[in-house]
This record gives sequence, C-alpha cells and structure tokens, in this order.
Amino acid sequence: MSDSPRFVTYTGLELHLREITAEDIPAVMQLERSAHSHPWRQSSFEDCLKGRQKCWLAEAKNTLVGYVVITHGGGDAELLNLAVAPTFQRKGIGQCLLEHATQCVAGKADMLFLEVRVSNQKAIELYSKAGFFELGNRKNYYPTVNGHEDALLMARQL
Ligand SMILES: CC(C)(COP(=O)(O)OP(=O)(O)OC[C@H]1O[C@@H](n2cnc3c(N)ncnc32)[C@H](O)[C@@H]1OP(=O)(O)O)[C@@H](O)C(=O)NCCC(=O)NCCS
Repeated sequence: MSDSPRFVTYTGLELHLREITAEDIPAVMQLERSAHSHPWRQSSFEDCLKGRQKCWLAEAKNTLVGYVVITHGGGDAELLNLAVAPTFQRKGIGQCLLEHATQCVAGKADMLFLEVRVSNQKAIELYSKAGFFELGNRKNYYPTVNGHEDALLMARQL
C-alpha cells in the first residue's frame, strides 16, 4: 500500500488509490448501486477485471469512497465509469480519480472520450472543469425510469 498513488483533495482529504481486485467487487457494487440511477451489473466489473480495462478505487481512512474504470486502444482512451460515494461527494474525490485515470492513459492515447447523461449536470461540470469539450449527442442512448435520454459525448486531448 505504501507505493500506491496518494492524492490530497482540495478539501484536505487524503486518498489512497489502488487497483480493484475481485475481493473488492461486493463493496464496489454497493457503492455503484448507491451512486448511479442505472448501475452496472456485477458481471460488468468482473469483465473489466479480466479485460484490458484499468479499474482503480480510492480509499479515505480505509473506507471505499470512489472508483474509476478506463480503457485504451487504437490511439484512443475511454472513461467507462466514475463514481463517488454519495456522502463523500463534492469533496474533490471525483476530480482526483479523473486526474489519475487521465495520467494512466496519457502517452498511450491521444484523446480521452466519455459519454454522460445530458441530465447529469454535476458530472458535466466536473468534466468541463477538467478540460473536456462537447462533441455531440447520442439520441436516446440511456434508459430512464420513463423512457430514454440522450448521451452527451465529451472528449479531451491527452
Ligand atoms: C459526478 C461525480 C463523480 C463527481 O464526484 P465528486 O467527488 O462529487 O466531484 P468533486 O468534488 O471532485 O467536484 C469537482 C467539480 O465538479 C463539479 N461538481 C461536482 N459536484 C457538483 C454538483 N453537485 N453540482 C455542480 N457541480 C458539481 C464542480 O465543478 C466541482 O468543483 P467545485 O466543488 O470546486 O465547484 C459524483 O457526483 C458521482 O459519483 N455521481 C454519481 C455517479 C455519476 O454520475 N458518475 C458519472 C457518470 S458519467
């Protein structure tokens, strides 16, 4: 753990980052369900651990507070998932996880892409602040309780 990446958020919270293992999945799933309206299935995380994706979690005082999943290939990178535990949001953790994920793929890809629900203003704010720009919309990309909503496609140069 001593050589794990360490971040201090702008609110002074000390974070330790490490790669997610199979043993972490139950806790990650609990956070996933609490943070997302339409959470990933457990099998999605399991597939990511077996695949080329990089999955990192952040702990504060040994408590899981967030995670990020990223992949790269063919000169591009994609942010696949990012979540912070609701009681730890707006403390700078999302910003640190995004920064770490960006560092992981810098040098391996030229562009980092992501998709976000058009209604997810707090995530769009976070990404815009981190240098992402809007590329366009994918119509009715995400399910909602009543139907579908568009995805906003964003990207930043690495
Ligand atoms: C989006 C999410 C990851 C942000 O994580 P976070 O740790 O709360 O974000 P941070 O504290 O690092 O915030 C960084 C910046 O993002 C923006 N932001 C974050 N939360 C915001 C909110 N509730 N309202 C407006 N802007 C917000 C702000 O610009 C903020 O900087 P500031 O606090 O100096 O104003 C978190 O809200 C989350 O897990 N949401 C549910 C899952 C999700 O939507 N994931 C993204 C899917 S694409």
